[in-house]
Amino acid sequence: MMKPDCGLLLAASLLVAMCSGCNSQAVPTISSNEASVNAKTDPVDFALEVLPILDRSCYPCHGPKMSPVSMAGFRVDLEEHAVGRGKIMPGDPDGSLLIQRVITTEDSKRMPPLKSDNPQLSAEQIDLLKHWIKEGASYGTQ
Ligand code: HEC
Repeated sequence: MMKPDCGLLLAASLLVAMCSGCNSQAVPTISSNEASVNAKTDPVDFALEVLPILDRSCYPCHGPKMSPVSMAGFRVDLEEHAVGRGKIMPGDPDGSLLIQRVITTEDSKRMPPLKSDNPQLSAEQIDLLKHWIKEGASYGTQ
């Protein structure tokens, strides 16, 4: 017959408290990533910096879940679609359809579509995409 062990219970609740402390510490990493984007000088990292933008604003319509058919048959996550089909011209952000479509003032052309729930890109995010394309639009090791 086991008696309730108060010491053990206390240890267990301490552990729980410690663990939730760990979790809440993990969250600010995201905002510190965003902060480093603004002060960008190093080469842009696709996985860390570009992907989160595409994931949030473009993936719902042009992402992996849309496979095999996506809006306009365009998967922004696939290098062979984005670069291979000339939507992104490495080294030439202004000549890239992808950039043209996120900066256009023509409402019917604007990406993400103005009527969608997907967040429009901020000026910083557009700058980052341009920077990434200027550097060659590397998708890294996919
Ligand atoms: C709510 C759905 C939706 C979202 C979100 C969205 N798009 Fe689109 N996109 C479309 C549709 C529909 C088309 C086809 C019609 C057109 O060209 O406007 C399209 C077309 C495009 C095209 C032209 C493709 C071609 O071959 O002509 C590009 C480039 C593009 N989107 C880029 C983006 C980017 C970059 C994002 C994120 C910043 C984005 N889209 C977010 C729906 C979406």
